[in-house]
Amino acid sequence: MTKKRVVSGMRPTGRLHLGHLVGALDNWVALQRDYDCYYFVADWHALTSHFNDTTEIVGHALDNVADWIGCGIDPERSTIFVQSLVPEHAELYLLLQMVTPIPWLERVPTYKEIAEQLSDRDLSSIGFLGYPLLQTADVTIYDANVVPVGDDQVPHLELSREVVRRFNNVYGDVLVEPAAMLTPTPRLPGLDNRKMSKSYGNTIDLSDDAATVVKKVRQMYTDPKRVRADIPGTVEGNPVFLYHDAFNRNLEEVEDLKTRYREGRVGDVEVKTKLATAVNAVLEPIRQRRAEVLARPGYVRELVMEGSKKARAQAIETMTRVRDAVKLVY
Ligand code: TRP
Repeated sequence: MTKKRVVSGMRPTGRLHLGHLVGALDNWVALQRDYDCYYFVADWHALTSHFNDTTEIVGHALDNVADWIGCGIDPERSTIFVQSLVPEHAELYLLLQMVTPIPWLERVPTYKEIAEQLSDRDLSSIGFLGYPLLQTADVTIYDANVVPVGDDQVPHLELSREVVRRFNNVYGDVLVEPAAMLTPTPRLPGLDNRKMSKSYGNTIDLSDDAATVVKKVRQMYTDPKRVRADIPGTVEGNPVFLYHDAFNRNLEEVEDLKTRYREGRVGDVEVKTKLATAVNAVLEPIRQRRAEVLARPGYVRELVMEGSKKARAQAIETMTRVRDAVKLVY
């Protein structure tokens, strides 16, 4: 039996952090067992909001792929590639545009939300409006059955399905309707209890060394009413304990810390020191593999070149079928 196909991408807008690990990469790694996985760097998607600031995109792309491998994405099993190295994505995107009413894109909730969040940027472009449609091309060009995403991306997959249905209505059954697969992990707040985001500087990055992790954890936001260790504290929703739940594999230790925290019998220093140790235990093997990969000159670049070649062969096949269906055959 052939495996179902998974396609997912990440924008190369900066270093990857713990949010990427629990929100995507852990799941990407697990999916490799049962699916034929295609994972890619969505560099054109990075341009939709950063078109005037492109100098770092390629650097981030290669650095991100090193992190993927560090986390356990296996280039032998999964196809790792770069969106812009498979220009057929753009051709399919163009054809999808023909059947997509502009209001469908204006209605996608992220369109207004991101425009409000990034009010300092010029987001009046067609490229930004078309973001979820490009994403539709990204997955349908590989006949993706399943697209693992966070809940913020569900409306994009809904748009994808609507567009595919319309395309198939017009041209015959040529594209596969992709389904969202929700990543089952809780959202982690940033170190300061705001949304975790590189732009807030409140992340622990996968490439942070052990001492940096200790320092960052020490500065984490915690229950503000606990000005002394003997004041009972709140565990629920406390970022320090959300991180313990996410990363500390010593469940007994976590339970003990929670009990003593609630009763005012533990200092923040102990809770945070144990958290830093737990986070470093998770990150250490990732750091090591990442370092190995980066120690081989040109390795990551070659790997994405190879992966992109393989992805492109697949994309060209789909586009032959699509051109056939659209009757643009000369
Ligand atoms: N929009 C996704 C994000 O911001 C990135 C992305 C681009 C993507 N194309 C995709 C994800 C295709 C899944 C499938 O996270």
